[in-house]
Amino acid sequence: IHRLKLKDVHGVPLLEPIAQSWESISAFCPDPSDLLIATYPKAGTTWTQEIVDLLLHDGDAEACKRAPTIVRNPFLEIVAPPPVPSGLELLSRMTPPRVIKTHLPIQLVPGGFWKNKCKVIYTARNAKDNLVSYYHFDRMNLSHPDPGPWDGYVRKFMKGELAWGSWYDHVKGYWRAKEERNILYLFYEDMKENPRREVERIMRYLGLSVPRGVLEKIVRLTSFEVMKDNPMANYTFIPNIVFDSSVSPFMRKGAVGDWTTHFSPEQTELFDEDYARQMGSTSIPFRSSI
Ligand code: A3P
Repeated sequence: IHRLKLKDVHGVPLLEPIAQSWESISAFCPDPSDLLIATYPKAGTTWTQEIVDLLLHDGDAEACKRAPTIVRNPFLEIVAPPPVPSGLELLSRMTPPRVIKTHLPIQLVPGGFWKNKCKVIYTARNAKDNLVSYYHFDRMNLSHPDPGPWDGYVRKFMKGELAWGSWYDHVKGYWRAKEERNILYLFYEDMKENPRREVERIMRYLGLSVPRGVLEKIVRLTSFEVMKDNPMANYTFIPNIVFDSSVSPFMRKGAVGDWTTHFSPEQTELFDEDYARQMGSTSIPFRSSI
């Protein structure tokens, strides 16, 4: 395994193999019943996926294993050499409705999702916690570019130089489009504050209705404590030559406000100033502590 390089695709730095397969990825056409889960990396993708998967299986964790709806890395496994099937191949073998994850910024999402009016769930997380989580992920994910020292990493995040590009453009892009494209826009902090309320919100958006008891069960099964011991959620099924959990576990802290243990006062000041400039007058209701 080696650390991949980034390559520019329409102004966004993507992992090189994704950039190389760009034509087939952008030509991918989903079924109208497919669901897209979109996030900036480390905003709560796995958490959202797990909730959706359980809702689609009536809270039955065993059924989730037997008949998965989730394609965990559809546009990433495309990099795997044969005989490992690419993400697009995996997708083609599954019958819709499928749950497809992406970290692509909205302008790069394959047009078929909009043409077919697919449902889209977007999960956003406050910038500083998102950045801290990404930093530790880049340390443990040996296929991602080396994060380098913390201070430089903060600057790269601010400049949009990490894989999948600018966090600021990402969260703003989906926010602007959410009414017109019927996107359910969720916040990690809301999920922490009141998981049941957010699970119900997802349930309603998907047009599902599960009994109260099942809802409670899903909330329990998707808590950080339970998910961190679930091999499908903690990614221990990925060989440790790719994800080195001894450097940092995938399910690391699962907290709001962990940024305070990483940012120096100077970094906070610099970051906040730049944040105000980049976010301008946008009204996205982010919270960095609860
Ligand atoms: P931390 O690194 O801050 O712990 P993604 O799935 O988008 O890669 O995001 C991973 C982040 O979400 C990690 O954050 C992980 O711990 C957190 N996470 C995953 N499941 C969670 C849950 N059920 N509750 C709270 N946080 C969760």
